[in-house]
Amino acid sequence: MALPLPLLLLLLPPAAAARGAPGAYVWPWPQKISVSPNRSCALHPGLFHFEYSAASAVQPGCAVLDQAFVRYPGIIFGPGPWLSPDRPGLKQTMKNSLQVLVAVPECGPFPEMNSVENYTLILNDHDFILKAHTVWGALRGLETFSQLIWRSDEGMFSVNWTEIVDFPRFPHRGLLLDTSRHYLPLEVILETLDVMAYNKFNVFHWHIVDDPSFPYESMTFPELNRKGSYNPISHIYTIGDVKTVIEYARLRGIRVIAEFDTPGHTLSWGKGVPGLLTPCYAGATPSGTYGPINPILNKTYEFMASFFQEISSVFPDFYLHLGGDEVDFTCWQSNPDIQAFMKEKGFDNYEKLESFYIQKLLNIVSSYGKGYIVWQEVFDNNVKLRPDTVVHVWRETQPSPYAFEMDTITKAGYRVLLSAPWYLNRISYGEDWQEIYRVEPLNFEGSPEQKALVIGGEACMWGEYVDETNLTPRLWPRAGAVAERLWSSQSVTDVGLAYDRLTHFRCELLRRGVQAQPLNVGYCEHEYFQH
Ligand SMILES: *[C@@H]1O[C@H](CO)[C@@H](O)[C@H](O)[C@H]1NC(C)=O
Ligand SMILES: *[C@@H]1O[C@H](CO)[C@@H](O)[C@H](O)[C@H]1NC(C)=O
Ligand SMILES: *[C@@H]1O[C@H](CO)[C@@H](O)[C@H](O)[C@H]1NC(C)=O
Ligand SMILES: *[C@@H]1O[C@H](CO)[C@@H](O)[C@H](O)[C@H]1NC(C)=O
Repeated sequence: MALPLPLLLLLLPPAAAARGAPGAYVWPWPQKISVSPNRSCALHPGLFHFEYSAASAVQPGCAVLDQAFVRYPGIIFGPGPWLSPDRPGLKQTMKNSLQVLVAVPECGPFPEMNSVENYTLILNDHDFILKAHTVWGALRGLETFSQLIWRSDEGMFSVNWTEIVDFPRFPHRGLLLDTSRHYLPLEVILETLDVMAYNKFNVFHWHIVDDPSFPYESMTFPELNRKGSYNPISHIYTIGDVKTVIEYARLRGIRVIAEFDTPGHTLSWGKGVPGLLTPCYAGATPSGTYGPINPILNKTYEFMASFFQEISSVFPDFYLHLGGDEVDFTCWQSNPDIQAFMKEKGFDNYEKLESFYIQKLLNIVSSYGKGYIVWQEVFDNNVKLRPDTVVHVWRETQPSPYAFEMDTITKAGYRVLLSAPWYLNRISYGEDWQEIYRVEPLNFEGSPEQKALVIGGEACMWGEYVDETNLTPRLWPRAGAVAERLWSSQSVTDVGLAYDRLTHFRCELLRRGVQAQPLNVGYCEHEYFQH
């Protein structure tokens, strides 16, 4: 039961009055928030804790929340020591616990596409409670709570009386990391998962292998990583590493969707599996170079069946990303066996050969009870797709602008993910986050039914020029612009207000030990090395 609050500031959409006021810097911005301008509660770092409400359907023993309850006091208060004796100010009540109430009696086990992330926060003298439908929603609410707390000049931790009703606009809010072009150490991936959770991202798209290297340790085909990685000792993800990533993500409400991109982007696969790739020809003889996966051999599909059986069991998410982008046809063109096969099948173009391969692969993956996401070319090339396929739009202009592609794919009835305007590996001088922020995913021709097929999007960080030395500053806070676009209401578009909150959030990231780059001129109370 909530008491009627004396709320002067109703921030929906964010009012200019919020500019600069402590207690209203949440990133991404909640769906509905009202913050009292003059009433607050005090928290003491030594006393404050999180508690399962007696009415909660989930009780102690749920690792997702047990661990969050341990993690968040550290995030909120830092390691201490806390300089001033924390006494409430005048008119402040001390609150020693946040009650957490989850409605559904389930502790996961894994977040899914359809997991409900709604939560409400009610903070005042009478109620100090976080209510959520699921544990995943409770995690989102804990993150918001952590961002509401501020420190007065006297060093008091305070939180204004606040009411928040919040839920995501899109269910799929992802970040892609590329661990093939440069290897990213396990710690870097885990740190990124932490910062993703601060931004309410809920999908880690792991573009784990590609042409340059194959760092995934395969149980079934150990030669893949032995021969295909940069270094089979130091530059691989062991089975244990992969499990660690999946569990770390799970505890933060993040799904891990692995991408094993074929038939292109597979040069590193060929080293460990002789005969898998198409031999390219120079005239009448093999040139010694290799092209995409060889689609005409039965043993190719035997390999794929065993390999994806392993992948389907290692990665618990319903979806696998099967890639399918940028298949280079020149090698297929040069190879006489491929020519003969195409003649026999009556394929008059290479898209048909590609489709032949992809269809067989999709059947294999479906037979393991998995769903799949594919890059847009698979759709563009008219591959027969299962109706529940998700198509991932990445091309900015070619062959058509992404808005047109979104229209075409949804018109055909497929669900779609947007990444085209969100390639964060591309950088330019100045505040390029604004362009990222201004993107409206539903800004294309199309019926409401079509728009409903847009399930979200992903920020992408391709690895040609990115490794552990520059990943974090290049990602944050820029990826935050995508996070807010995918979480917050469509009406949250004011770049000026976003600038204030994102600047504050970036300082908060520094305080939390994340080396996030600045948006523009200024300073933070806690600079990076002071955290
Ligand atoms: C705080 O806000 C309430 C409700 O708007 C108002 O009645 C009260 O006078 C304010 N108190 C102060 C000290 O400004
Ligand atoms: C939160 O409360 C403080 C102190 O009462 C006040 O200065 C601040 O403006 C409030 N924040 C908002 C967003 O109203
Ligand atoms: C979550 O919020 C959305 C948007 O308001 C609403 O449609 C849905 O019913 C809510 N779900 C639950 C379980 O509260
Ligand atoms: C490949 O498999 C198909 C279908 O099982 C079979 O008809 C064909 O003879 C096989 N080809 C070779 C070269 O083994």
